[in-house]
Amino acid sequence: MARSCLAVILAAGDSTRMKSSVSKVLHPVAGRAMIAHVTAAVARAGISDVALVVGRDADAVEKAAAVDGLRVSSFLQKERLGTAHAVLAAREAIARGYDDILVAYGDVPLITDGPFAAARAAVAEGHDVAVIGFHTGQPTGYGRLLVKDGELVAIREEKDASDAERAVTWCNSGLMAIDGRKALALLERIGNDNAKREFYLTDVVEIARSLGGRAVAVDASEEELSGCNNRAELAHLERLWQQRRRHEIMLSGVTMIAPETVFLSYDTKIGQDAVIEPNVVFGPGVTVEGGAIIHAFSHLEGAHVASGATVGPFARLRPGAHLAEGAKVGNFCEVKKAEIGAGAKVNHLTYIGDAFVGAGSNIGAGTITCNYDGVNKFETHIGAGAFIGSNTALVAPVSVGDGAYVGSGSVITEDVPADALALGRARQVVKPERAKQIREHNLAIKAARKAKG
Ligand code: UD1
Ligand code: CA
Repeated sequence: MARSCLAVILAAGDSTRMKSSVSKVLHPVAGRAMIAHVTAAVARAGISDVALVVGRDADAVEKAAAVDGLRVSSFLQKERLGTAHAVLAAREAIARGYDDILVAYGDVPLITDGPFAAARAAVAEGHDVAVIGFHTGQPTGYGRLLVKDGELVAIREEKDASDAERAVTWCNSGLMAIDGRKALALLERIGNDNAKREFYLTDVVEIARSLGGRAVAVDASEEELSGCNNRAELAHLERLWQQRRRHEIMLSGVTMIAPETVFLSYDTKIGQDAVIEPNVVFGPGVTVEGGAIIHAFSHLEGAHVASGATVGPFARLRPGAHLAEGAKVGNFCEVKKAEIGAGAKVNHLTYIGDAFVGAGSNIGAGTITCNYDGVNKFETHIGAGAFIGSNTALVAPVSVGDGAYVGSGSVITEDVPADALALGRARQVVKPERAKQIREHNLAIKAARKAKG
């Protein structure tokens, strides 16, 4: 039978070093709040109940944390008296009774479900406490894991450690699993008799052992456990996240010519045999199907690109842009909330917004859908196999039928029936010799001015 588990996520730090008007855990990595990365990993580990311990922005943090159907409740830690005190802010949730209590931090966004599963497995095997640790060349500031005969005997905080203990390089990530039936009793025994006068969660190890229980440490990668204290660390986490995700996407069969210049969002989906050229940015909500090509310097957000479609170079797909199979959106084109039908071409210098473009249509250079009158938005409908001449302004609401042809430079304000030709421009006038006359007139003025001095 699956063991029940409550994840208690600590997010009540004052985040002073972020120098921010919002809680640290709301800052995004890969387009998603750090807290949501943590809860997504919790959900992937098969845990459905989350207790958030927050100090500010409770509503916003709770909202951001509620991903993947998790049941999230938040608890305010009014005073910041240490990590054990923080966990106990969620006393009411812990008291509901779970097999396992998992403690995690809200500012460790690269965490995956693996370490959570390993720690819970150790508790299932009979340990009271299973701490997630990491090896590091720079242990300063972390609690050290003191291990004897394979058992974790204590976690020593830097400020309370002896020189010998400080030499230990296996460190406490702060994340751990605790036997849910014993958790409250263990946590309530923790005092604050230490260098910082704080209630240290790490004391749970020695307390469990003093009562005859066992503790163990499980190892995870330093990278995955990296936390965030300031904006420079935030950027570092972003870099690590991007590197990891690009690598996964390439291994899944996507070509990236210069992966270090491609920026992905937490939910970017790219199919096999798609090619992503250099300097492409994916905002949230993008799906690129297999075999599509995203040329250099394109920016996509909330867009769907079907197989065989091509985008860019220098294209911008905004939310609601849907390119059907084989469609093309070329350089300096912007597409927003619009369907571009199969094989349709929007190749140069164009804005298509709030529109439908039928299969196989050709949209000439400089075409603009005038979708906004300053107050309301209106739609443009272009049928299949239509041809829109260059520099056309389609003043919405307006429709152009299947197979219709719009002459270049037209301003189209009325619907164009299928197979019709529409011309919405002034007729050309040619005046023989007139250019020469004007030039000579102007030259005469210039000469007269010069003579005057
Ligand atoms: C803690 C651990 C240390 C570990 C380190 C890893 C303790 C006593 N020490 O140290 O062994 O190596 O994390 O980063 O547990 N928080 C609250 N309320 C509080 C205090 C903290 O919500 O009253 C939250 C913070 O927002 C943060 C996390 O708990 O997310 C850790 O707190 P922090 O003060 O950074 O702990 P450290 O002293 O770094
Ligand atoms: Ca810390």
